Amino acid sequence: MRIGFVGAGKVGFTLGKYMSERNVCVSGFYSRSMESARQASIFTHTRYYETLKEITQSSDALFLTVPDGAIGEVWDSLKRYSLTGKLICHCSGAMTSAVFSEIGQTGAFGYSIHPLFAVSSRLQSYQELSKAYFTIEGPEKYLAFWRDFLEGLGNPVRILKPEQKILYHCAAVFASNLAAGLYEMGVRLLMECGFDRESGEQALGPLFTGNCLSVAQKGPLKALTGPVERADLGTIEKHLGALCGPERDLYRGLSGVLVEIAKRKHPQRDYEPLSRLLEEEWRRE
Ligand SMILES: NC(=O)c1ccc[n+]([C@@H]2O[C@H](COP(=O)([O-])OP(=O)(O)OC[C@H]3O[C@@H](n4cnc5c(N)ncnc54)[C@H](OP(=O)(O)O)[C@@H]3O)[C@@H](O)[C@H]2O)c1
Repeated sequence: MRIGFVGAGKVGFTLGKYMSERNVCVSGFYSRSMESARQASIFTHTRYYETLKEITQSSDALFLTVPDGAIGEVWDSLKRYSLTGKLICHCSGAMTSAVFSEIGQTGAFGYSIHPLFAVSSRLQSYQELSKAYFTIEGPEKYLAFWRDFLEGLGNPVRILKPEQKILYHCAAVFASNLAAGLYEMGVRLLMECGFDRESGEQALGPLFTGNCLSVAQKGPLKALTGPVERADLGTIEKHLGALCGPERDLYRGLSGVLVEIAKRKHPQRDYEPLSRLLEEEWRRE
């Protein structure tokens, strides 16, 4: 199985390196700019192609590792070539394989294969990819093939139905990008307490990383600390009184989620007064 990458960006570099290090036959790279494809080929000790046609002819499977908005356009160009029996994949978390429109008429099979991982560096991220879950969505015919392939690389794999992908992607956004939004809210509140942005960002760092690690390693139930777990009504009431607008809405909504976790952790503790306080605040607005 020769695997080619169309799109020599962060994910193309990372998957290409990760696979070639694990003895997968990576046929090489094609990209919008030849220089990106050339750099990726050097990094992965593979080759680069000057045309989409050439990489298609030299590959049994193609990963379209281009931005989500370019997948349809690249697919439209690919359709012009002979694709019988080829596997065409993209790596978008939100999109399904349905983006490969009329693929049945080409004789190819389309999949979405998503690494549940923040790929932030073209050159470094491959070193951490073995921890990542992969999800696969697409026609039955090659689902087991891709699952075995990815498990063979050492990664845990889940198969998703097309209708599950958007919620699945929301889950990833909650656990990653939105955490950056929460961090930013914390920084802004510190700035209201006299910190400048730089020192505010620095000050929250150890709290954030320590807590994130703890949540990821032990799970939210064991890692939970703070006033909600303690059912500390007085403190939470003061917090709600000090916040307003989106901060207060978020504080209330997320505290409601924490109450559910805390109830599972301490079934004997009475969280009803706290639940009522959080609902009461909703009603006041
Ligand atoms: N980054 C992540 O954390 C992450 C994680 C999981 C999945 N994904 C998914 O992986 C895919 C790629 O994301 P990325 O982060 O690797 O993006 P990226 O770093 O921006 O790389 C995309 C590459 O695609 C190339 N490209 C753009 N339009 C093209 C076209 N029409 N034809 C050929 N090449 C084209 C660009 O090439 P040039 O350099 O040649 O201009 C660019 O290097 C997306 O579907 C994304 O949703 C990303």
